Amino acid sequence: MRKKIVAGNWKMNENLQEGVALAKEINETLKADKPNCGVIICTPFIHLASVAQVLDRNVVELGAENCADKEKGAYTGEVSAAMVKSTGAQYVILGHSERRQYYHETPEILKEKVQLALANGLKVIFCCGETLDEREANKQNEVVKAELDGSVFNLSAEEWKNIVLAYEPIWAIGTGKTATSDQAEEMLAYIRTIVADKYGKEAAEDTTILYGGSCKPSNAAELFAKPNIDGGLIGGASLKAADFKGIIDAWKK
Ligand code: 13P
Repeated sequence: MRKKIVAGNWKMNENLQEGVALAKEINETLKADKPNCGVIICTPFIHLASVAQVLDRNVVELGAENCADKEKGAYTGEVSAAMVKSTGAQYVILGHSERRQYYHETPEILKEKVQLALANGLKVIFCCGETLDEREANKQNEVVKAELDGSVFNLSAEEWKNIVLAYEPIWAIGTGKTATSDQAEEMLAYIRTIVADKYGKEAAEDTTILYGGSCKPSNAAELFAKPNIDGGLIGGASLKAADFKGIIDAWKK
């Protein structure tokens, strides 16, 4: 049975004190009412070590939002996968469209990052998704396949076990415009097919694939009811403990 997951991506929000307070609140809320799925919070680098201290890892796991494409050395301002791991984080988000778009991360760069993350014992939440223009041109499958081909389909079957995929259509991120549950299901089913082509049917059935993009308490249950949707990668709604919990509770419906 593949793992159901709700993961929060805080992006560039919350100062250190606010972030620690939010993590504590999420942790306490979920300890009091145990989730029916895996829960991960992915925070800015500066929060990781402090947030690691306040989380009960049986309930909430921890991830970073990025890591460097180099192992170590003279790369001012960068944070390596080994450094992320040393904070106690277990996951890292890679391939987010905001990193691709604003920081020009190419499939080749992402391939390096994925390799380094896995080599350092991190699990990877790897994102893919098309722009509105690409969807309107009906190129979404092609775009998503190219993103996976370019950065993760080179992995061994063993390495693949540490990959979680997240489909995040760019037109749905932070826009309030969620993909319909049918659109999301259609894409996730397609992704599962191409994973099966690469790693076999069993591995594809075991792969957790998340949907992300304006997921909220009001639409999570409908999305998660779809057979191929194994949970969500949540931006805005992960910054309020009650909203994040509302999405997590969608797995109880
Ligand atoms: P929103 O939930 O704010 O649309 O963001 C989705 C996202 O980008 C998560 O990685």
